[in-house]
Amino acid sequence: MTTRKGIILAGGSGTRLHPITEGVSKQLLPIYDKPMIYYPLTVLMLAGIREIAVITTPHDQDQFRRALGDGARWGVALDYIVQEKPEGLAQAYVLADGFLGGAPSAMVLGDNIFFGHGLPELMAGAPEAGGTVFGYHVADPERYGVVDFAPDGTVQSIVEKPARAPSNYAVTGLYFLDGTAPERARDVTPSERGELEITTLLETYLADGSLRVEKMGRGYAWLDTGTHTSLLDAGNFVRTLQQRQGLQAGCPEEVAYQQGWIDADAVAAMADRYGKTEYGTYLGKLLDPTR
Ligand code: TTP
Repeated sequence: MTTRKGIILAGGSGTRLHPITEGVSKQLLPIYDKPMIYYPLTVLMLAGIREIAVITTPHDQDQFRRALGDGARWGVALDYIVQEKPEGLAQAYVLADGFLGGAPSAMVLGDNIFFGHGLPELMAGAPEAGGTVFGYHVADPERYGVVDFAPDGTVQSIVEKPARAPSNYAVTGLYFLDGTAPERARDVTPSERGELEITTLLETYLADGSLRVEKMGRGYAWLDTGTHTSLLDAGNFVRTLQQRQGLQAGCPEEVAYQQGWIDADAVAAMADRYGKTEYGTYLGKLLDPTR
């Protein structure tokens, strides 16, 4: 049982998805058959985390509460925290200080999708002390925080959106940080764009020699969904995978049941609730031992 708590960062302005996100939060948009936030939520659940704060804009919080409730249906406890303005990813730790109460945490961006066999084990390998982030090989590293490796393979620095990327390894939106993250985040000074940058926070761990960068290999998918094209690509990815396998990606009921956090009756109730959908049929099949 982990003492780690979870944070889903689901605020932001979503300007690259205008006009869609003028009226609705990006993280509630559909990725094929379920809301985007189900995917990062299940990632935290796969890490064994049951206490999770969802950080949203002030005006979107009600919709998130409607979509997710208090988490009891998945055997988790959801807290909601408001971020008044999108002042950067590292601000999440300042806002979540009281919620964390000194505990180590895993934070996932609400618009990031992770998929791959072995993800729970990969996350379980993150020690409670220090920080662990994951480097993922991408074709367009300039859009991300990029890992600069020394010739011996150690990490020298992380560079935010460099004009010329020092490697193809982007830092993904999944951060395992110890209980010192909020006090470190409070010391971060805003960047030129006025944000508390996660890269600056990670640099404090790097300076201490306590940052691990684990490569997330090519057997994983890491998708972000921040533009119209990437949003559609992510939806198509999930649809292709689910249709081929007959297995769901990002299904919190399934993860909760596997973890033993909810029982068969609870799954049956959810299957009934979504009876008319393939999602509901799938939940019903989870209870069939011969499947
Ligand atoms: P981004 O995609 O960098 O920003 P955004 O969602 O505001 O979109 P755009 O660039 O199109 O305006 O954010 C990554 C994730 O982090 C996303 O899930 C939103 C979230 N976020 C916050 O919750 N608060 C913040 O202050 C920022 C910068 C992002």
